[in-house]
Amino acid sequence: MDKLKIEGGYPLKGEITISGAKNSALPLMAASLLSSEILNLDNLPDLMDINSLSELLENMGSKITKGQNSISVDNSDISSTLAPYDIVRKMRASVLVLGPLLAKYGSATVSLPGGCAIGTRPVDMHINALEEMGASIEIKEGYIYAKAPKEGLRGAEIVFPQKSVGATENILMAATLANGTTTIANAAKEPEIEDLAKCLIQMGAKIEGIGTDLLTITGVKNLKSTNYSVIADRIETGTYMIAVAMTGGEVIFKNTRLDFLSALLPILKMAGIDIVELKNGDIKVTRNKNKPLNAVDITTKPYPGFPTDLQAQIMAMLTIADGAAVVDETIFENRFMHVPELARMGADITIKGSSALVRGVKELKGAEVMATDLRASVSLILAGLVANGTTIVNRIYHLDRGYEKLEEKLGACGAKLTRIS
Ligand code: UD1
Repeated sequence: MDKLKIEGGYPLKGEITISGAKNSALPLMAASLLSSEILNLDNLPDLMDINSLSELLENMGSKITKGQNSISVDNSDISSTLAPYDIVRKMRASVLVLGPLLAKYGSATVSLPGGCAIGTRPVDMHINALEEMGASIEIKEGYIYAKAPKEGLRGAEIVFPQKSVGATENILMAATLANGTTTIANAAKEPEIEDLAKCLIQMGAKIEGIGTDLLTITGVKNLKSTNYSVIADRIETGTYMIAVAMTGGEVIFKNTRLDFLSALLPILKMAGIDIVELKNGDIKVTRNKNKPLNAVDITTKPYPGFPTDLQAQIMAMLTIADGAAVVDETIFENRFMHVPELARMGADITIKGSSALVRGVKELKGAEVMATDLRASVSLILAGLVANGTTIVNRIYHLDRGYEKLEEKLGACGAKLTRIS
């Protein structure tokens, strides 16, 4: 298993080009199953999760052609609607094939998902909503066996009990081919859901309420071929902005946006970081090391709140801030697995239930640590970038699921990272 060795203490200076969003690319690839024609995606990140979903689609009969940061998915010859455990366990997003398969082919057998070990992460909301659309669903031996009525799924008034990104995406996709109109109330409204809806509209879907928590979808008979460019990765952007906040220095971010980081920006500004949008759309992030890094309290919330996917990274920053801050994790019950690892590097963090009290320390010290999930892994790397001495992060396969060319991107800005195979 690969490890990453990091020599801490080098400020970041240079340019980082942000990749397409993993959390948008995966649902878009699943959405290809709604059409028998070709879906071309570009600005696609080159990641393990993308490979896993490609493998899953190919198993079903998709013909996939990969280019550099692009993919063409031809679903004219789907021969199976099975998503087997071996592939689904690697990546939770595989459950997103359930809605499209059921809507287009009338049946689906999908293994219950795996993915990051950050909580129980049930799929009851996906299943209940599909049942409301007429599907009969049985769960046995770790699989979801789903069947649509003979005449196809029907429109329904779905009211989600809480905001779920995955359930909103699954039902949004299923509804595009259902008979009649579906409304999804209390829908999640992450930018990646907006991206999915825009692509579906280009494919011929009828969707209203994009960007709000009430989506209205009128089913159509077929969806057609389109070309679509994946939105920039806001979590990758935020992760590297936090890296600059921690190491000091100045980095220009290319191919990204600020509007979808409205919860992170005020936090970074309060912490003392300068962020400006340049005339050409690039974003300049500066941290003057002579100024203190202020501690700021954080509560994770569904979009537009502070993303749970940036909680571990901001906590890494708070470990070296001036003063104490509280981090409340409201989305997942088990998302503090980075805490004992950060503590090995000298961080002072006390967990009580879903809150963590982080008291800033003068410096972190390099140590050997273990990555436990995707965002936890990257938080340890951020800590390693500022720690005194050498940090070894074990099990970085988690990282390869979600960060394209991390060593190259940070390395080009002066970070000292080496992968050890
Ligand atoms: C979540 C995050 C998303 C992040 C992703 C990966 C939110 C709202 N969602 O998306 O931003 O990119 O993790 O880290 O921030 N739930 C149920 N039943 C269901 C589905 C979900 O109880 O059927 C619960 C989950 O346990 C969780 C909450 O709803 O507490 C949000 O889950 P959901 O948004 O579906 O998770 P992901 O789609 O994985």
